[in-house]
Amino acid sequence: MSGSNTPRFTDLVAIVTGAGSGIGRATAIAFAESGAHVLGVGRRKDALEETAGAHAGIAVLALDIREEGAADTVVATAVERWGRLDVLVNNAGAAAVMPLAESERSVVTGLFDLNVIAPSMLAHAALPHLRESSGSIVNVSSTYGHRPLAGGAHYAATKSALEQLTRSWALELASDGVRVNAIAPGPTKTDVLVAAGLSQDAIDELRAHERDLIPTGRLGDAEDIADWILRVADPLSSHLTGQVLTVDGGLELV
Ligand SMILES: NC(=O)c1ccc[n+]([C@@H]2O[C@H](COP(=O)([O-])OP(=O)(O)OC[C@H]3O[C@@H](n4cnc5c(N)ncnc54)[C@H](OP(=O)(O)O)[C@@H]3O)[C@@H](O)[C@H]2O)c1
Repeated sequence: MSGSNTPRFTDLVAIVTGAGSGIGRATAIAFAESGAHVLGVGRRKDALEETAGAHAGIAVLALDIREEGAADTVVATAVERWGRLDVLVNNAGAAAVMPLAESERSVVTGLFDLNVIAPSMLAHAALPHLRESSGSIVNVSSTYGHRPLAGGAHYAATKSALEQLTRSWALELASDGVRVNAIAPGPTKTDVLVAAGLSQDAIDELRAHERDLIPTGRLGDAEDIADWILRVADPLSSHLTGQVLTVDGGLELV
């Protein structure tokens, strides 16, 4: 589906967090190519501006979504600009390599702040507008939201929490017409492991190992994940809610 985005989101409004790179950038561009007005959010202004440069339908807001009041600012910015909100994509996130023996409180709280609390506050702020538009939330989890990750238990725990929020919110909000789903990517070519502090050699070794294991024979591209975020957010998917869809080239089957 990449590169053939039909205008199925014409005049709808989407917020995409983490839009300055990787999956978030690909998602912001795919929504804009599909006719949506997009607010891309992240901390790095220059990275966001590069994303905005890819399509006139993308506006950006540079802030840290963990800050007090950030969620209200994000949602107000989109609604004041375009008058509505149809889709919230909680994509911004980070991983950390941290064996139990090396656990640090600040790393644990930092992961939960970014991967669980910030998406919760954004969903809370977005809710009145999503109720009005019969909109939807797409949370970006990970296969490690439902598989164990030795050496990265707290990252896995944050994504597991996000998957439970997805199911519980879906049940809570179904009668309001608001849908909540999650996409769980497998290994995908982005800078996520750089952000997690791994060396380039360690990343190359890990990605080569993963590529050998993936039944389709390749790592995911950010566009592979963006395509599925759009598919589940599509108003035509109106009977789909509470689902966690793994997009990993079949790795979970191995
Ligand atoms: N790539 C994979 O293999 C993979 C696999 C499974 C799940 N995922 C998930 O996919 C999502 C996107 O990751 P990615 O792979 O595209 O990696 P990425 O390029 O590192 O994207 C993460 C994004 O989150 C933003 N971000 C981080 N902290 C933030 C904060 N405090 N406030 C606002 N924005 C913040 C970053 O921008 P700034 O630094 O500019 O803020 C960045 O654009 C994450 O939730 C990740 O856990 C990725």
